[in-house]
Amino acid sequence: MTPQTPRRILVTSALPYANGPLHLGHIIETIQTDIWVRAQKMFGCDCRYLCADDTHGTPIMLKAQQEGITPEELIARIGASHQADFADFMIGFDIFHSTHSEENRRMASEIFLKLDARGLISRKTIKQAYDPEKNMFLPDRFIKGECPKCGAADQYGDNCEKCGATYSPTELKNPRSVLSGATPVERDSEHYFFDLPQMESRLKQWLSEDRVQPAIRAKLQEWFDSGLQAWDISRDAPYFGFEIPGAPGKFFYVWLDAPIGYIGAFLKLAETTGLDFDTYWGEHATSELIHFIGKDIAYFHTLFWPAMLMGAGMRTPTAVYTHGFLTLNGEKMSKSRGTFIQARTYLDYLDPQSLRYYFAAKLSASIDDIDLSLDDFRQRVNSDLVGKVVNIASRCAGFIQKQFDNQLSPDLSDPSLNASLVAAAESIQNRYERRETGQAMREIMALADLVNQYIDEKKPWAMAKSPETLADVQGVCTDGLNAFRILMIYLTPVLPAMSAKAAQFLNLPAMRWEDIDHPLVAHTLNLFEPLMTRIEQSATDALLAATQREAQAMHQAQQPIPIEKTATATTTPPAGDIEPIAPEISIEQFAAVDLRIAKIVHAEHVEGAAKLLRLELDIGDDKPYQVFAGIKSAYAPERLIGRHTVMVANLKPRQMKFGLSEGMVLAAAGSDQGELFILSPDEGATAGMRVK
Ligand code: MSP
Ligand code: ZN
Repeated sequence: MTPQTPRRILVTSALPYANGPLHLGHIIETIQTDIWVRAQKMFGCDCRYLCADDTHGTPIMLKAQQEGITPEELIARIGASHQADFADFMIGFDIFHSTHSEENRRMASEIFLKLDARGLISRKTIKQAYDPEKNMFLPDRFIKGECPKCGAADQYGDNCEKCGATYSPTELKNPRSVLSGATPVERDSEHYFFDLPQMESRLKQWLSEDRVQPAIRAKLQEWFDSGLQAWDISRDAPYFGFEIPGAPGKFFYVWLDAPIGYIGAFLKLAETTGLDFDTYWGEHATSELIHFIGKDIAYFHTLFWPAMLMGAGMRTPTAVYTHGFLTLNGEKMSKSRGTFIQARTYLDYLDPQSLRYYFAAKLSASIDDIDLSLDDFRQRVNSDLVGKVVNIASRCAGFIQKQFDNQLSPDLSDPSLNASLVAAAESIQNRYERRETGQAMREIMALADLVNQYIDEKKPWAMAKSPETLADVQGVCTDGLNAFRILMIYLTPVLPAMSAKAAQFLNLPAMRWEDIDHPLVAHTLNLFEPLMTRIEQSATDALLAATQREAQAMHQAQQPIPIEKTATATTTPPAGDIEPIAPEISIEQFAAVDLRIAKIVHAEHVEGAAKLLRLELDIGDDKPYQVFAGIKSAYAPERLIGRHTVMVANLKPRQMKFGLSEGMVLAAAGSDQGELFILSPDEGATAGMRVK
């Protein structure tokens, strides 16, 4: 039953940060959203799927600096990679925009000015940690020191990973800037605050209207109980973001303009589709607004964002749907353990639809974490999609093709089988609507079992052997293929490409929900082509291995400055800057690097090499190690012979143009070529000692 005016719905996924490639955690969210949107579209809703890259903030600014490019160049490159990955996972956005857009700048300014005009913005001078060397205020995460409660070393400025205490960075003992190592100083700065507490009763009202899942509602109650506080929405220059109107040198905090990016994306879409702003965003909007997010960002979407919209006199979200976190083989995905599977790496080895199906089968309306177990993944996809669904088509297609000239019979031979499949439509539609896709998949697979049983009982392969029963084969296979057709309609939101292929085989323009009850009879089929093949263990093994290789490569890129390659202009930070500290590693990872005191027993120029010296290093082994080091610009060979230095002894030997390099010596490198300083131990250390 289609209502008179179709539901108009805007749907969003959270805007991924443009500071790195997508991983499967991002993908599970967009797959969940995409399945929901595709289902709504099939049910006849006027549903639009918006997304964008979230491009502002300190980490993006620093990463661009580190790469020697502008933030605009960085977000353009990452934006392109995100869009390519999403497209290959068949995420059907109606628009994918960027928060660094004119539309978004305009909306962010407008909303801010409205909030200000309504007395919801206050200004207050606060003390904040400042890096005197880097000349910038430091976000909490860029300060480390000892926990004020338990004394644990090396804790971030916002909370202690040892004892769980939360505090402000000024309370840390022996604090230092992660960027420069300098001791932060306190500085005054005027900040802008959004008066969240003023919105408390309206927020409570909004939440009482069934906007969020029960678990999130409970979380919100805790937040209310501990008291809402004004929210700091400004940051000082240097910052990559939008300058606050009328406040030079002050920028909107990234979390202010990020959700407004949903509206920015809408405006971009409206340019080409003529959607009316007030219908979607006005205080009395008649459309629905639904956000899909992960549980880590519920605070922003269920407090700040609706409060901002209320304050600006706009509509509030109809619902915020939160999902849990993706784990891999039962464990939190981790960059250092090499279990953070990137979207692109998955695509290099496996079919996107397999993952879409697996996630669909595991997803529900709850906020529980979702585990990707690679063994279970293979089994599930092989047994359900290949073994059950595709199998129905391949079992029946051959007979219709060979014996009946691709013609389906004029009637169904067992209308009751067809009726059982049709009867499930409403229930499956409800499960999609309620985000119970796991239940929907189980219901669909139970129907597939029914169809396979029917074929097993009828045994068309046996019937085809005797002339008296041959005619009935056409009817049985027509039943089977009609059942397959309905199953594929049900699976279309999850498997859009397989659905399109099935439509091609069935000689239909598309798989449509409204055709569920229109049996295909007296109809000519096209040639059957395989729809999906089994996943072999070798493919998932290869995926894991590639993921581990990537993690190692990232690691090596961040290890002590490799001095065979003197820093080049693009990797060198601007003069006066210290390179940002690399992501943290565990003690085990550090221990894996075998550092030894080495005596330089020989050093010489290398013919034809502009930067290299050839060193022979004694670390107490029976023969010296040969190392090619890019230190020619700073050291004459004679100066080196006889001195001690530190060497990476377990580095995989590398064949270089001039010979095998069997390790690496450690040197400090400044921003200028020639600013190189070989490390050496204090007097007394001898060749072969382990450095740890
Ligand atoms: N940029 C913000 C969102 C701004 S929305 C106005 C952000 N970006 S993110 O790239 O860190 O995350 C994007 C989405 O991916 C979030 O909803 C987040 O919860 C989700 N996920 C990131 N890692 C995840 C898993 N491991 N598992 C499931 N989802 C996770 O937050
Ligand atoms: Zn502590």
